This record gives sequence, structure tokens and C-alpha cells, in this order.
Amino acid sequence: MPVPAYIERLPKAELHLHIEGTLEPAMMLAFAVRNGVDVPYRTEAEIAATYRFRNLQEFLDLYYQGSRVLIAERDFYELTHAYLSKARQQNVLHAEISFDPQSHTGRGVPFATVIDGIHQALQDAKSEFGIGTKLIMCFLRHLDAEDAMTTLEMALPYRDRIAAVGLDSSEFGNPPAKFAKVFARARAEGFLAVAHAGEDGPADYVRQALDELRVARIDHGNRSLDDKALVQRLARTRTPLTLCPLSNLRLGVVPDIGRHPLREMMARGLMVTVNSDDPAYFGGYVNENYRVVEEALGLSEPELYQLARNSFEASFLSAPEKQALIAELDNCAGRKFAVARAP
Ligand code: HPA
Ligand code: ZN
Repeated sequence: MPVPAYIERLPKAELHLHIEGTLEPAMMLAFAVRNGVDVPYRTEAEIAATYRFRNLQEFLDLYYQGSRVLIAERDFYELTHAYLSKARQQNVLHAEISFDPQSHTGRGVPFATVIDGIHQALQDAKSEFGIGTKLIMCFLRHLDAEDAMTTLEMALPYRDRIAAVGLDSSEFGNPPAKFAKVFARARAEGFLAVAHAGEDGPADYVRQALDELRVARIDHGNRSLDDKALVQRLARTRTPLTLCPLSNLRLGVVPDIGRHPLREMMARGLMVTVNSDDPAYFGGYVNENYRVVEEALGLSEPELYQLARNSFEASFLSAPEKQALIAELDNCAGRKFAVARAP
């Protein structure tokens, strides 16, 4: 699926990206061999052939299974560095990266191993190719709140490396309210907050994420459209939704990409962004996600520009940092619009 040059060139931020979801089959095999971890596959093609999901849970089962090859600090470093290199090639200037510490500490990998590997890659990528980043530590919502609290406490010595906490994994039956105390503590410790909501859970989970977790952004949020008052609230407060079109398609959150709610959300005044979620599993990085909605929903260049602009506005950067990146975007896209408007 070729990506139009206009999408490729647009400076953009990626705000919804699970680093464990960037584990490409080749890397999975290489790490498995290096670490002596048994995986039931011999080739990349065999692995890719298993990536057919009927729902979120089927994906999560494979995603956690894949993560088992991540053992040493070097693995986390290489995984993160490879993603940042790829993202920078797609003109991502800033990435807010989620990680799932419990999926590693639960297997006996120390928290320090995970965060040291990721953090070093963020620093190196910044100096090597100038991509800015922030880290989001996600709690696994299928585990209990005490486990999340223990994880938060493990993270406190590293608080200067982590911008926000998040909430991911099996949504239905694990409402945001289950984690109200953990998020209150995290906010008191100075972390910002985001949460997955309305992916396969109801609109009420989006409302709970706002009211009980006080999140600054909603990851996915598709089901918000079921609740008119909630949509009005999200629009009024300019609360960003980090949409992931290919993820939604592959997990059956939308029946086909032409029915993706992005355009309707834009029309209703919502601050939406385009992201890749777990690109190694869903068949595309951020530009491919822009591409599928551009093609299926017929987005114009000004609308694509707006999505890229939203990605900076919805980020956790400071106002001057946002301004500088939006100026770069305008410099790139503004010229194009000027040409388009010329008689
Ligand atoms: N939803 C919930 N949990 C996740 C996802 C997702 O899309 N990706 C990785 N963990
Ligand atoms: Zn996600």
C-alpha cells in the first residue's frame, strides 16, 4: 500500500504506541535464539500468519506471548531504538511511547532492566536523529489494582523518566474505576494520566476514565460516539482521542475501514489523532494509518494537516515546544497549501 508523499512528508507526533507492539517477527526470532526462549515458530512468515485476530483478547494473548522473548536490557534497547529509527523515517518528530512493565516483571524481569534499556534508546535516538519522546507507563487492567500500585511504587525512583501513567489490556469487565486509587496516587506523585477506553468497552468507561482517573487523553475512545452528551463534553474540553485505524480494523472494532469513525469525530469537533498502536501486529506504522483513513474516508490534504497538527497539540509537550513543532509543520504544509490556492 503506497503512502502518498504528502503524508510521508508531514511532520507529526505519535501518541499511542506500545513499544512491545513494535516487536517485528524477525526481531522476535532473533531475541528468542539469543535468549534461549522457546517460541513455537521457525520463520517470520509463520509468525505473521498467526496475526489474524477476531477480537482484542486474541491479539493480547499473542502480544504477551511475543513479549516473552524480551529479557535483557539490550533487548529493550534494540526494540525501542528500532522503533524510533523507523518512526523518524516517517517524519515522526515526537513520540509518546507506552510500555507494559507488568508483562515483564511478572516473568521475573526486573523493572530496572526494562526502563534502563528503553531510556537509553530514547536518549540515543534524540542525539542520533533528533526525535523527541516521552514515556507512558501502562497498568494491565486485567490484573488487580494492588498489582498496579506495587508497579507504581517500583517506578517512583524513575519518576523523572516517566511522564504519565496509562491503562491497557483487556477492557471489557475491567472498568477504569477499578484503578481510581492508583491513578489518584500517580497524579499526586506528579504523573499525567491517559487510559484506553471505549475500544471494546462502553462509552461509560470513557466517562469513568475522565471522572475517576482524571485522564488528559483517551486512547481509542471509539465508543464515545454512543453517548451524545459525552461527545459534547469531549469537544468542549478538547480532550484528545488517540485513534488507531489499522488496529481497529484488525481487532474487529470497526467492521471495515470505510466505517471508521474518524471523519464523524472530526465533524463533531473532537480532537482526534492518528496512531499505530501495535504496528508489528497490525500491518502498518503511523504513515500507513494516515494512508488507510485518507483512502477509505477520502480525507483532503487540509484534513491530513489538521490531524498532524492535532498530534502536536494533543501531546504532553510544553506550549513553546508545541509551537516550535507546529511551525515546522506549517513550514512544510503551508507551502503546499499556498501552491494549491494559487490561481
Ligand atoms: N488495547 C488494549 N491493550 C493493548 C492494546 C490495545 O489496543 N495494545 C497493547 N495493549
Ligand atoms: Zn493501545
